[in-house]
Amino acid sequence: MPTVISAINGKGGAGKTTALINIAGEYALRGRTVAMIDMDARSNLTKWWSDCREKEAQAERVDVVGHKTARAVGTYLDRAGSGFDCILIDTPGEDTAIVDPVIGWSDLVISPIQASKREVLGAIDCFESVLRVNEALGRGCLHGVLRTRVSLTVRHTELYRKIRPIIEDKVGTYLFRTEVMERNVYKDIQNGIGTLQMQELTEAIAKARRETQSVVEEIDELLGTDGETGGGR
Ligand SMILES: Nc1ncnc2c1ncn2[C@@H]1O[C@H](COP(=O)(O)OP(=O)(O)OP(=O)(O)O)[C@@H](O)[C@H]1O
Ligand SMILES: [Mg+2]
Repeated sequence: MPTVISAINGKGGAGKTTALINIAGEYALRGRTVAMIDMDARSNLTKWWSDCREKEAQAERVDVVGHKTARAVGTYLDRAGSGFDCILIDTPGEDTAIVDPVIGWSDLVISPIQASKREVLGAIDCFESVLRVNEALGRGCLHGVLRTRVSLTVRHTELYRKIRPIIEDKVGTYLFRTEVMERNVYKDIQNGIGTLQMQELTEAIAKARRETQSVVEEIDELLGTDGETGGGR
């Protein structure tokens, strides 16, 4: 069975699509086959993938498909899901009816947040949905909050300092130790130049790659999967 990871935060623009592209690139590099499912009607992920095709920069071992309804994704997972080691589901940035079914398919839900109140609240809402769906379906889907677009300025804000006590102590979900910093290279990737891992290894790319490796190692730790061997589990 493939590992299913989704990115959900009901408050838009938190960094879901970027995080999933980076994770996909890292898994592909490690020899795993990855299907990315774009459930966002604005199709950012699908557009990125078609731009990559135009530039002959589609990543090996990665496939991107666009399915906007829960029903279509369910059918896709039944028919094609087992052909991949890993399935990454990108969701739209607003509350929709697809959240519950996506959680129902996922082994891990990641809620990216920037240091803004609405995004933190969005992540908490998502965690509550994970608990509710787990209870209803008797499943044990995991949830983690990933801080993105972090900068030195952000680190000095009051809200940023409150994130750990709120997420870990008050809410009780997992906070990724790795923070995704604000980096231009993450923006560049969206121009259809392939994944982060396909870029020439400048110092800036190397930093971003280390950060992404660290995110993926945390994911593998959470899921108890072996990140080294590739080729499924
Ligand atoms: N770590 C980062 N450093 C710099 N820019 C980033 C980073 N993460 C995301 N961005 C930029 O922030 C914007 C929003 O990111 P992204 O599209 O990944 O968020 P999203 O949650 O998928 O948004 P939406 O809800 O609109 O789908 C994009 O322009 C992206 O390039
Ligand atoms: Mg998106």
